[in-house]
Amino acid sequence: MRRKLLLGNWKMNKTIAEAKEFALASKELADIANQHHIDLGVAPTYLGLEAVRTNASKSMIVAAQNVHYNPNGAFTGEISIPMLKEIGIDWVIIGHSERRAYDNETNQKCNQKIVALIKEDMVPVYCVGETLQQFEAGETKKVVEEQIRVGLSNLNAADVEHLVVAYEPVWSIGTGKNASQEIAQDVCGFIRGVLKDMFGDVAAEIRILYGGSVKPENIKSYLSCPDVDGALVGGASLKIDSYRQLLNNIL
Ligand code: PGA
Repeated sequence: MRRKLLLGNWKMNKTIAEAKEFALASKELADIANQHHIDLGVAPTYLGLEAVRTNASKSMIVAAQNVHYNPNGAFTGEISIPMLKEIGIDWVIIGHSERRAYDNETNQKCNQKIVALIKEDMVPVYCVGETLQQFEAGETKKVVEEQIRVGLSNLNAADVEHLVVAYEPVWSIGTGKNASQEIAQDVCGFIRGVLKDMFGDVAAEIRILYGGSVKPENIKSYLSCPDVDGALVGGASLKIDSYRQLLNNIL
């Protein structure tokens, strides 16, 4: 049975003080989510991670938005897995489309990061999704399949048990143009099929999220899709009232 997962991606938003304020306000929500067997989480900036980890409920998932695959070394500006573990962080978003677009994050690079994370018993949230141009050219499944096959290569069934995949069509992120429920189910179902082909029955355990302009008004329709297990939410996860509403609407 796959638990529902609501994960907020704060991107480059919130100072440490703002992150702490949110964390404190989210405490009661984590308890409510728990009672309903829903996993709740947020991904602050690197600087906000510790403040959220120490001030939010223990059951709140706190994810980094990126990580380097080397444990240390001459990689200016990077953060490593041991550094995250030291402050109690064991989830990391990998391959978000903004990192793919602005930071040259390739499928191969995502794979290096995912393999390194899984080796350290961390949970990657692997983001995939097509651009508007690819969508219009009817290439969605081809693009997503390649992202999955390359991004998750060199792994076996036991490795991917706790993996989370997020399908986020690039054209729907921050645009207000969310994908229809039919598209979300079609692509998430397709992803599960590719995972089954690669890893067998464990594919039924892997959580697949939809992301892209998810709002309190539309979150329920996505979560009613058989292959959509939760949502990765940007803009609507920033304010505690809207975050609470997202949760309330899927209880
Ligand atoms: P959005 O962002 O909800 O603001 O569209 C989603 C994401 O980028 O994860």
